[in-house]
Amino acid sequence: MDHLRDLPADFTWGAATAAYQIEGAVAEDGRLPSIWDTFCRVPGAVHNGDTGDVACDHYHRWREDVGLLRELGVGAYRFSISWSRVLPRGTGAVNPAGLAFYDRLVDELLDAGIRPFVTVYHWDLPQVLQDRGGWPARDTAYALAEFAGVVGSALGDRVGDWFTVNEPLCAAWIGHLEGRMAPGERDVTRAVPAAHHLLLGHGLATLALRATLPAGSRVGAVVNLSPCEPATDDPADVAAAARADGHTNRWWLDPLHGRGYPADMVEVYGVEPPVRPGDLETIATPTDHLGLNYYFREVVTDDPDGDLPRARSVPVPDATHTDMDWEVHPDGLEQLLTRLAEDYRVPRVLVTENGSAWRDEVVSGTVADLERADYLESHVAAAVRAVGRGVPLAGYFVWSLLDNFEWSYGYAKRFGLVHVDYDTQVRTIKDSGRRYAKLIAEHAELTSGG
Ligand code: FCB
Repeated sequence: MDHLRDLPADFTWGAATAAYQIEGAVAEDGRLPSIWDTFCRVPGAVHNGDTGDVACDHYHRWREDVGLLRELGVGAYRFSISWSRVLPRGTGAVNPAGLAFYDRLVDELLDAGIRPFVTVYHWDLPQVLQDRGGWPARDTAYALAEFAGVVGSALGDRVGDWFTVNEPLCAAWIGHLEGRMAPGERDVTRAVPAAHHLLLGHGLATLALRATLPAGSRVGAVVNLSPCEPATDDPADVAAAARADGHTNRWWLDPLHGRGYPADMVEVYGVEPPVRPGDLETIATPTDHLGLNYYFREVVTDDPDGDLPRARSVPVPDATHTDMDWEVHPDGLEQLLTRLAEDYRVPRVLVTENGSAWRDEVVSGTVADLERADYLESHVAAAVRAVGRGVPLAGYFVWSLLDNFEWSYGYAKRFGLVHVDYDTQVRTIKDSGRRYAKLIAEHAELTSGG
């Protein structure tokens, strides 16, 4: 893997998780329900009726999990903070016991020589805020800023790298338009305001974090993007791909970079985002880094009678697909990174999530997940190519450290470098985890100058 030499010596290798997907302990130490606790109880909403009640029991096993990170040799860990633990009522009174959990975790990481990267909001809105209108309501954006200020002042002395919101696309479109994620709505007149308030919340949270963090700290958003290509050169498919690109990529990137909302998409949705004077400036507040989550590309055809954005994804013949049925397409990562650098001039970008689900099995204490290891190496190679093309890529985080609660797929889909037996909570490092450790060590050796 000589190409690793082309990455900067201080390149960050990490693994990522999110609070609701791993913590469990949903009713402990003053935590109150989030929209995911509620959604899990809607019949048919989550595969097998699974919930995050126990998940990986990370709330109790965090020390062991930091030990796993150390064993993998990663230099960084990206995790999110449960809003319902820290501000159980969404705003107002801080719950010291909830905050103390992250305080201990950060200290343990630093003791292990692992840099904490904090995501403030990874989809688990306190239910009380949903009851007051959720993301379609403007106040939720201000509540996020309040939450960001609280965690920033508690952890900012030790955490230098911050992300405001994770994948506003999923929260807005999948949560309010497709209904496959919490809060499970299907209404474009609520989805478009939700999208706007998530972006506004990002901008306000950026300002709130900056007000508490020491100089030199880094703040930005995390977006998930997909290259969108037409399945044929039929003009209707080409137009559908432009809509899919607007829906998936431009709707988020354009306002974040001071271009406002794409006019073609406002027309497609038929709903104006509820922009007030100053909002677009707040959303485009300059940030220090951008997180890119990459999983797959979309190849689409026109779908005139289908759901918005009236573009239907079609399978790519002969391609390899993961257990999520997502196409394995490493070139898409190179393409997106290059687009961020060339079209949006991002000053610094990190791959904050990339990974794959497979049907893993533990056999005699090992998990021979060759597919995941190959996926990992091919995507790292794509990232290296992007760096060769001048992309200011500073790090790469695998999704995920652990098998965990994969939202509406429940525990059926395994993304971890570490296998979790949900009956016993026994953790087993998979072969892909060992391969990742080797890759990290090799990069260190190649760039140590020795
Ligand atoms: C991303 C989410 C993450 C995980 C992966 C598979 O969209 O950010 O929580 O579910 O997908």
